[in-house]
Amino acid sequence: MMCSSCGKRAFEKFRGRYYCRECFIRKYEGAVESAIRRYRMVKKNERVLAALSGGKDSVAMLMSLKSLSRKLNFELEAFFIHLGIEDYSDKSLAVSQKVSSILDVELNVVRIEDYGFRIDDVKRKTCSVCGNVKRYLFNRFARENRFDLIATGHCAEDILANLLKNMYSGNLGWSEKQKPRIEGYDRMVGRIRPLYEMSERENLLYVLARELPFVSEECPHAPSTMWKEIVYDIEKRVPGYRVSVLRNLARERRDEKTEYRYCKKCGEITTSSICQFCRNVMKYSKKSG
Ligand code: FES
Repeated sequence: MMCSSCGKRAFEKFRGRYYCRECFIRKYEGAVESAIRRYRMVKKNERVLAALSGGKDSVAMLMSLKSLSRKLNFELEAFFIHLGIEDYSDKSLAVSQKVSSILDVELNVVRIEDYGFRIDDVKRKTCSVCGNVKRYLFNRFARENRFDLIATGHCAEDILANLLKNMYSGNLGWSEKQKPRIEGYDRMVGRIRPLYEMSERENLLYVLARELPFVSEECPHAPSTMWKEIVYDIEKRVPGYRVSVLRNLARERRDEKTEYRYCKKCGEITTSSICQFCRNVMKYSKKSG
């Protein structure tokens, strides 16, 4: 098979056509750039903190942001949270350090052990505690270090699977939180999803084409992939479903005002008197026991 752009030996297919390695990289980065421009994700001179886990999606995000940062004129640093998950966290940190040094991006590291617990200590609802820890620490670190935006490596399937799951449980307000750019307010830093329209497979091929290291094993606490499988299944039956839903979602507007207060313990934004992060610390931390 030959590259449909330059005639060299093909590396892989991207959106219906075969490309060589160099043309694949160019097409992939072009698609990320179009999404960033389409949804006005980043403004000139904004400081972006990219959440790096060492997995293929966040590595693909950091690489593509790095390749676009000069052209689109924004500053970029990376952020890693050591979650205290057996060998997985140490391995993910080592890969994240390697990727950041290859890309010459400053890596900031925070350990949840400094708050007195590890994700491995959490026996029930591990993923939801982990999600809360990540959102809290990203936001706090980004705000305290004057970043304008937090970039996460959510890909199209992650967003659609979340959407289906939340529709199923009646949390329609969550669809607001799945948009490509969410403006910051008060103590909350804005968020962007540069890989909003990219699929997991495209991210994997891009990381392979760029010959970057990544952690290939799943987190031992990873949730079921059922909702993602449903997304794949629908896309197979209705080609184009993914992009169509994502673009409609990005256009949808809800004018609900978020009610918030400040946590009595740490002062971060919450909907109750003590935020979920502080409740997790009180429950799991050996320091508070
Ligand atoms: Fe959070 Fe696996 S990375 S539970």
